[in-house]
Amino acid sequence: MGARGMTAKDNEVICGFCGARIEGAAFAHDGQEYCCEGCFLKEKKFRAVQEERDNAYLSLAEALATALDVREHETGLHSKRVACHTLVLARRFTKDPERLRQVYWGSLLHDIGKIGIPDAILLKRGSLTDEEWVVMRTHPEKGHAILAAVPLMQEAAEIILCHEERYDGTGYPRGLAGDAIPWGARLFAVIDTLDAMTSDRPYRKALAFDAASDEIRRMACSQFDPEAVAAFIAEEQTLREMVALKCGTASLKGLGPAG
Ligand SMILES: [Fe+2]
Repeated sequence: MGARGMTAKDNEVICGFCGARIEGAAFAHDGQEYCCEGCFLKEKKFRAVQEERDNAYLSLAEALATALDVREHETGLHSKRVACHTLVLARRFTKDPERLRQVYWGSLLHDIGKIGIPDAILLKRGSLTDEEWVVMRTHPEKGHAILAAVPLMQEAAEIILCHEERYDGTGYPRGLAGDAIPWGARLFAVIDTLDAMTSDRPYRKALAFDAASDEIRRMACSQFDPEAVAAFIAEEQTLREMVALKCGTASLKGLGPAG
């Protein structure tokens, strides 16, 4: 793994594992060059360990999301759906597996702080009082506190902290505006509204995709980052199909190991 981050001078080929300059014929595999087969095998083993770690993280993140679904008596896979749909937008901006992973985890666990909200508020049927809203609005900070100390989940924890912020600064908990809101949280905000509007609620049936789309377009530059809305428009057909299927099954598979 020593070669990561090392740069080669012009016309110099370095080993993809140990970083040594390759003098003779390189051992090439999957577009990467190694000084010998031993380095190739070590790199392969390193990547397998990384993949195992990433899968363990994913399983734990999904278990936490399920714990919240159980607590909220929610069976609709909301967390998984918004994570998958946010990933569709995020892929328009980056192919970096690590960043995509953080966006997925942050979206999946966006409401995990609600685990710390009392039942009388979290499960209340009617509308919340002002005092109850004060408690409910602590959930992004509670969620951040749960995840912030977990190694390799810092960017996801920031998305959780900022998932109720609005582009124009009228959100909470900190009233952040524009680019001060993490990129993943700005993408997530569009998708959360899409999912909320196209899902059944106790007080109304799900709205049509087009109604949600109109609302999202209308809120560009106020509630939503205009670039996130542009990505939504570019991916509208894909998202329309995913919403129709109530798709929560796309995954991080195929992202490859973190760099
Ligand atoms: Fe939330």
